[in-house]
Amino acid sequence: MTAVSGPNGDALKVALLGCGTVGGAVARLITEQAEDLAARVGRRLELVGIAVRRPNRQRDLPGVDPALITTDAEALVRRGDLDLVIEVIGGIEPARSLILTALENGASVVTANKALLAEDGPTLYEAAERSGVDLYYEAAVAGAIPIVRPLLESLAGDEITTVIGIVNGTTNFILDKMTTAGSGFAETLSEAQDLGYAEADPTADVEGFDAAAKAAILSSLAFHSRVRIDDVHREGITEVTSSDISSAREMGCVVKLLAICTLTDGEQPRVSARVHPAMIPLHHPLASVGGAFNAVYVESRSAGQLMFYGPGAGGAPTASAVLGDLVTVARNRVRGAAGPGESSYAERAVAPIGEVVTRYHVSLEVTDAVGVLETVARCFAENGVSLQTVRQVPLPDDATQDAQLVLVTHAAPDAALSTTVAALRELPEVAQVISVMRVEGQ
Ligand code: HSE
Repeated sequence: MTAVSGPNGDALKVALLGCGTVGGAVARLITEQAEDLAARVGRRLELVGIAVRRPNRQRDLPGVDPALITTDAEALVRRGDLDLVIEVIGGIEPARSLILTALENGASVVTANKALLAEDGPTLYEAAERSGVDLYYEAAVAGAIPIVRPLLESLAGDEITTVIGIVNGTTNFILDKMTTAGSGFAETLSEAQDLGYAEADPTADVEGFDAAAKAAILSSLAFHSRVRIDDVHREGITEVTSSDISSAREMGCVVKLLAICTLTDGEQPRVSARVHPAMIPLHHPLASVGGAFNAVYVESRSAGQLMFYGPGAGGAPTASAVLGDLVTVARNRVRGAAGPGESSYAERAVAPIGEVVTRYHVSLEVTDAVGVLETVARCFAENGVSLQTVRQVPLPDDATQDAQLVLVTHAAPDAALSTTVAALRELPEVAQVISVMRVEGQ
C-alpha cells in the first residue's frame, strides 16, 4: 500500500455494498459527519458508489447523490481506485466474491458479515494480507459493543481463559419476556415478531445459528486459533419451557442463550465453543442483561473479569461500529500502514461437546414410593456423575401418585450427563423428564 500524506490530499474513495437498515445508517453518518470524519482521519472520505439489489426502493438518504446508487456491485469493487469498501449485504455470496475482489484490487474492507467470517474468515484474512490492506469487522459481533478490537488488540498481551456472550438480542428479548411474564416460547416469539424484535423467519436467531457464528469469531480471537461455525455446538431456545424458567428461578438462576468459549483442561488445551440455553446465577454479571441487549463477559489471566455491554443490533448502533472501523482503516491508509491481521498461531484443536465439563439441572416427575430416590441417584452414580443437590417438591393435586425431584449435578463431562439423562428416561420410576438444562457460572 502506498502512503498518502497530509490532510489536504485527495479524498479517500469509499464504496458501500448494501443499503438496508445498517447500510442506510452508514451512508447517512458518512454524509452528515463528513467534516468531523475528515478531521479525525486527516483526509476526506468520499462516497463513490452504493451497491443495492433494489434501486427503486424508497431510501431516506439526505445529502447523498442518488446517482451513486448502482446494481452492479461487481463493477464497483473492480474499479481499481477504491480505498475502502464497506460490506453490509450479509450472507455468504455474493458478499465473499465482492470482498475478495475488493481486497485483490487493493481496497481495505470493513464488514459486518458474521456468517461469512465464521464460514470462511481465513480466505478473507489471507487475501487482505496478500494485498497489504485491512479487513476489519467490529460490527460482526454484538453490534455497537466494542469486543473484536478489545480481544484482538487491547487484550493481546493477556491470556484469555473464558468468553461468555449474550450475543443475540432476539433470543435474549424472548427469554427475558418468558421470565418476567411467565409466558411460553411460541406466544412470546409471536409477540416479539409483532414488536419487530424477531424476524418473520426467526430460524437464524431462535435456533442459535446467529450466535454460533459470533461464538466462532469470538473463540478464534480469544484463543488465537481458527474456529469455524461448524465447530460450534449449537442448541437454540425453541425447546425452552416455562417449567425450565421457573426451575431456574427456584434455584436463584435465570435462563439465557449463551455463547460460551473456553479452553479445556490438560496439557494441550483445546477450544470449546458452544451455544445453548443455560441457567446462570442471578449474581452473575450476565444475568441482569435484559431485553434485546447484548453483553460479552471475558475472563483473562491478568485483567481478571471484564464485561462489555450495549445494543447488539439495529441500524445506528451497528453503523457506529462500522464507522469506528472505517475511521481506523482510513487512518491506516493515510499512514500507508495496515492494522493487525489474523492471529491464529496457537492452532488449537476444537474439543467435541461430549468432552466439555459442565453442570446439569434435571427436573423429574417420579413415582412417590420407597427406593425411587435411590434408583434415580444410582443412575447418576453409574454414569460417573456426582450430585450436588437433590430436592423433592410436591406436585400439583392432579398428579397425586407422583413427586417432582430436582437434581443439580457437580461438573462432569457433557457426554456422561447426556447418557445419564437418556438412562433416566428409561426408568419405570420416572414418569417424565420435566426439564434438563446446563448450569453455567459460579
Ligand atoms: N439478529 C441478531 C440479534 C442481530 O437478534 O441479535 C444481528 O446479528
